[in-house]
Amino acid sequence: MSSTDMLGLTDKVAIVWGGGFGMGERTSIRLAEAGAHVAVVDLVPERAESVAAELAAGGAKSVAITADVCSPESVDAALAEAEAALGAVDVMATVIGLGVWGQILDQSMEQWEEAHRINLTSFWNPARAVARSLIRNGKPGAIACVSSVSGLTAAPNHAGYGAAKAGMINLIRTMANEWGPHGIRVNAAMPGVCDTPRLKMGEEGLAKMREKLPMGRPGQPDEIAKGLVFLLSDLASYVSGHNLHVDGGWTSTFLMQSGFGAVEGDSP
Ligand SMILES: NC(=O)c1ccc[n+]([C@@H]2O[C@H](COP(=O)([O-])OP(=O)(O)OC[C@H]3O[C@@H](n4cnc5c(N)ncnc54)[C@H](O)[C@@H]3O)[C@@H](O)[C@H]2O)c1
Repeated sequence: MSSTDMLGLTDKVAIVWGGGFGMGERTSIRLAEAGAHVAVVDLVPERAESVAAELAAGGAKSVAITADVCSPESVDAALAEAEAALGAVDVMATVIGLGVWGQILDQSMEQWEEAHRINLTSFWNPARAVARSLIRNGKPGAIACVSSVSGLTAAPNHAGYGAAKAGMINLIRTMANEWGPHGIRVNAAMPGVCDTPRLKMGEEGLAKMREKLPMGRPGQPDEIAKGLVFLLSDLASYVSGHNLHVDGGWTSTFLMQSGFGAVEGDSP
C-alpha cells in the first residue's frame, strides 16, 4: 500500500474554509496531494481562485468558492456549490481566526462579539452544514479546525480570542459526542506560534521567542496543515474529540520555561 492510500483520502471530497491563504492554503494543497478533490472556500475570491488553479494545474479536481463562513446562508450556498462541482463532501477543515486585541476592561461589546464571531461561529456554521450533509447522505466523515494555545492558557490582551478558542476546544468534544454515532469524527489542530504574516515581530522579539520555544523556531503553516490532514485521514480513524498539540512542545514546557521546576526536587 502506498503512503497516499494509507491516508484514505484518494477521491474523497474535501472542503477547506479559509483555504486561500496561509495554513488553509497549505491544507488545500496537502489534501490534493493526498488524492482528494478540494473545494477551496475563502472570503477573498482571488485567494480561493489562485489556490484552486494551483491544485488544478497539479492534476487535482478543485473548485474556488467565495463565501463568508460567519453567515449560515453563505455557508449553505457554498456547500451546495462545492457538492454540485465535486460530489457529496467527506471531510472538511476550517482554518480561520483572528486576534481582537485589548485589555478586558478596555474592550467594547462589539469587539467581544467580533472575537467570538470570527473565531468560534466561523467553525460552528460550516461544521453543522457539513455534518447535516454527511448524515443526510449516510456517509462517515471527518471535521477539523484550528484552535490555539491561547485557548488552553491565559490570553492577556486578547481575552475574546482565548475564550473563543477555548470554546472551540470544548465544541469539538460535544460535536464528536453528538455526531460519533453517525461515523463523524471531529478534532482540532492546535498551533503554538506559527510563522504566518500575522507574526509581526522585530528581529529582537523573534530571537527572544526562539529562545523560549523548545524546538528553537516557530511552526510553519505546512506543519499545521499536516496535523489537519492527519486528523482528516484514515490514520486517525479512532481519534475524535481531540485537540492535537502542533506546537513544537511549547505548551508541555511552559512551566519549565517560567522557571518553576527548574531545580531538581522543586517541581510543582
Ligand atoms: N499564526 C499563528 O501564530 C497562530 C497561532 C495559533 C492559532 N492560529 C490560528 O490559525 C488559523 C489560521 O490562521 P492564518 O493566519 O493561516 O489564516 P487567517 O485566519 O488569517 O486567514 C485564512 C483565510 O481565511 C479567510 N477568511 C477570513 N475570514 C473569512 C470568512 N469570514 N469567511 C471565509 N473566509 C475567511 C482569509 O481571507 C484567509 O484567506 C486561525 O484559526 C488562527 O487563529 C494561528
